Amino acid sequence: MTSARRTILNDEDRDATVAALQTNLVDLIDLALQGKQAHWNLAGPHFRSVHLQLDEIIDAARLGSDEVAERMATLGSAPDGRISAVESSTRLDPFPGGFLTVESTVSEFADRMATTIEGLRESIGILDSLDPISQDILIATSAELEKQLWMLQAQEA
Ligand SMILES: [Fe+2]
Repeated sequence: MTSARRTILNDEDRDATVAALQTNLVDLIDLALQGKQAHWNLAGPHFRSVHLQLDEIIDAARLGSDEVAERMATLGSAPDGRISAVESSTRLDPFPGGFLTVESTVSEFADRMATTIEGLRESIGILDSLDPISQDILIATSAELEKQLWMLQAQEA
């Protein structure tokens, strides 16, 4: 079912656009969830700065997921942010369980940020010929995550 009576894109372009957006939606939701796991299970020197930075990254991922989901709805296609959708189609590796050192957390979480950014950039390329408005949302999301990745991995020895 489409919710839009007056469509913005033709069916073919819309289907390709929302398919790209959906792949980024699940990655961004997973990144936010993994960020909290990392935020709670951090231990060791420089705890506080990384603990707080992870919350900033979570905010960026949540904001991005909200923008992406609402763009899908705007185009008349239902976003799927259910945990079952995230689990079956996320491209991020699962986060390790248990307490982790700051060093391991920075390394593991930076890897997942890089995967998310890689997916965003792939979709930015695909959307170039389909929908510049959706592309713009992904560019803004990737720009913020790329800046956060810089600040996170700058702490690696
Ligand atoms: Fe907290």
